[in-house]
Amino acid sequence: MDAGRETHVAMAGGGGYSLATKGAKDAIDGAWPLVEAAIARVPDRRGRAFTLSDMGTADAGTSFDMIGKAIDAIRGRFPDRDVQIVYTDQPRNDYNAIFRLVHGLAGGPGYLRRHENVQVLASATSFHERILPRGVLDLGFSATAMHWLSRKPCDIEDHVHMVGASGPRLAAFRAQGAADWEAILSHRAAELAPGGRLVLANFGIDEEGRHLGHTGGVDMFDAFNRIWRRMASGGAISDGEYRAMTLPQHYRTVEEFRAPLDDPGNPVRMAGLRVEHCESRVVPCPFAAEFERHGDAERFARDYIPTLRSWSAATFRAALDPSRPDDERDRIVDAFYDAYEATVREAPEGHGMDYVHIYMTVAKGACPGRAEGAAPRVPA
Ligand SMILES: C[S@@+](CC[C@H](N)C(=O)[O-])C[C@H]1O[C@@H](n2cnc3c(N)ncnc32)[C@H](O)[C@@H]1O
Repeated sequence: MDAGRETHVAMAGGGGYSLATKGAKDAIDGAWPLVEAAIARVPDRRGRAFTLSDMGTADAGTSFDMIGKAIDAIRGRFPDRDVQIVYTDQPRNDYNAIFRLVHGLAGGPGYLRRHENVQVLASATSFHERILPRGVLDLGFSATAMHWLSRKPCDIEDHVHMVGASGPRLAAFRAQGAADWEAILSHRAAELAPGGRLVLANFGIDEEGRHLGHTGGVDMFDAFNRIWRRMASGGAISDGEYRAMTLPQHYRTVEEFRAPLDDPGNPVRMAGLRVEHCESRVVPCPFAAEFERHGDAERFARDYIPTLRSWSAATFRAALDPSRPDDERDRIVDAFYDAYEATVREAPEGHGMDYVHIYMTVAKGACPGRAEGAAPRVPA
């Protein structure tokens, strides 16, 4: 059960992430009605900046349109207030890509051109920690990020992801997932202003047991695991390297997402946080949808694999023995994705990475400690 080598979570830099992740943008665009409703309901804190934070933003590309619309809506409701956008991610994130985008150096004009008195800031503090000062956050947003754990509780010795785990290893991931979720919410509870909202679209396991890449076709994580194992049996990697490849992620069920918010004795609920909205949604894989249209297996395989690579390559690379030279590690990782691409090219049917998200709006009641079941006391 040893966690083994250091876990590593990083997305491809240089703006490449957004190009490979159209599905993630679709998932964010789908959150717009919740964001719009949240902006309509948060109380006016006249004289103070409206603070909107996108937590786990990557290069800010996938949320760019949504944040622009949010600023339009905030300005429409509060014409005289400054709007402060706080982008957050991890220290190794490519923050230059965010600023290039926002300041209009990456092609299209940024939203800053449309409005005055919008200030853009960034923080490299993990969402597992406190990021913002107490009570300043009007609207916290996060998409497709909070499944990343603060630590890997153990290696899963016969799979690469907790969705393939069972017994004590699955229990260890569930426990870590619960502890991290409660901490994430507790930090946000401190940051939120009374009546503030969180709109969260997180990867999870829906009521039918579906999750990312597991919606009825070829199971994506099983495919990852088969190819990685084949590389171990063929001698390209060692058995230890095979075992060390465990993504430090937990896909929470709807119940797990709701648990600390619904439990009257939980510190998160006692801090005033309430579920205002919760639903699961499947966002279809855009590459598989395109393949249905064009029918070209080679093109599908070539287009699809970069999206898998963008979020998983760093963890595969980190599982390799550190004594291997850098270029050798690169070659092994390339060989892994080449093998996946060949698998898709040879038998494309059923491949795809449908997104399964749990969408939630969480409100911070103006009056923590209210009676169980009472709606948060915020202006309509
Ligand atoms: C799959 S990307 C999602 C990016 C964007 N929100 C979207 O939906 O397209 C996950 C992002 O979460 C970030 N992330 C992972 N763990 C994090 C943490 N502990 N704190 C902040 N960001 C984190 C990663 O660096 C990455 O940029």
